[in-house]
Amino acid sequence: MASVVEPEAIRKCLRRLTLNPQVAVVSSIDSTNDEAKRRIKSGLNGELLILSEIQTRGKGRYNRTWSSPKGGLYLSLVIRPILKAESAPLHGFLCACAVVNALQKMGVDRARLKWPNDVLISQHKVAGILSELVSRSHDDHLVVLGIGINLNTDTSVLPEAIRHSATSVIEHLGNITSPEEMLCEVLTFIDHWIQITRSEGSFEAVLAEWRRMSATLGARIRIDDGTRVHVGTAKELLDDGSLLVETEDGNVTFSMGDVTHLRED
Ligand code: BTN
Repeated sequence: MASVVEPEAIRKCLRRLTLNPQVAVVSSIDSTNDEAKRRIKSGLNGELLILSEIQTRGKGRYNRTWSSPKGGLYLSLVIRPILKAESAPLHGFLCACAVVNALQKMGVDRARLKWPNDVLISQHKVAGILSELVSRSHDDHLVVLGIGINLNTDTSVLPEAIRHSATSVIEHLGNITSPEEMLCEVLTFIDHWIQITRSEGSFEAVLAEWRRMSATLGARIRIDDGTRVHVGTAKELLDDGSLLVETEDGNVTFSMGDVTHLRED
């Protein structure tokens, strides 16, 4: 199955972009995010893009495991925060938009977003983003943008606990998608949103795109914020990326949490 990405194909794609990362492609690693953080610790200079064919300890949000068998696309991109370090969480929204843009370009027209950064096709998760801020000093910050996409993944090999809620691009298109092409589209859209964010000095355009592609806004949801579970209707994505939910107890704003979309009966 076509899953190894040729470094030369990546470099060719990058030549058209403003992103200028060192490129590392490996066949197996614990986690591309962890490897990126190790390289940052040992003095990484400039941007980095690291990809692996499989991950043995892929990480998701809330310390969950990100199952990473062959066929998926697993990458971490290290960049300086686009604006200030405080805006680091918004980089996850930027990547999520870029993944949906890229999926649409590859022919998946039903991809939508679940707050904050999950990419769904028909309510099933096809991609996830883990964005981590690493600060080496008070003015030396980097963001590690970890992206996992179930591309040519045979979902029957995923753990049973997630199989029912996961999907892959191949399941929707019925044919293999070139990992090189998909990667190049993702990087191209990331680059596009970075340029817009930089030139406007705000993430407003990214947030507007996120709202446009959201499956969460307007939906009945259950949200677990780590201390309790709330049920309500998702009303708004605020400018700092938090979610405003109308609950029985009134409007509540969440800056973090695990969302489930509830079916309307
Ligand atoms: C989530 O939805 O919980 C986030 C999943 C993020 C997975 C990607 S795969 C590449 C990078 N390396 C990791 O260990 N995690 C991210």
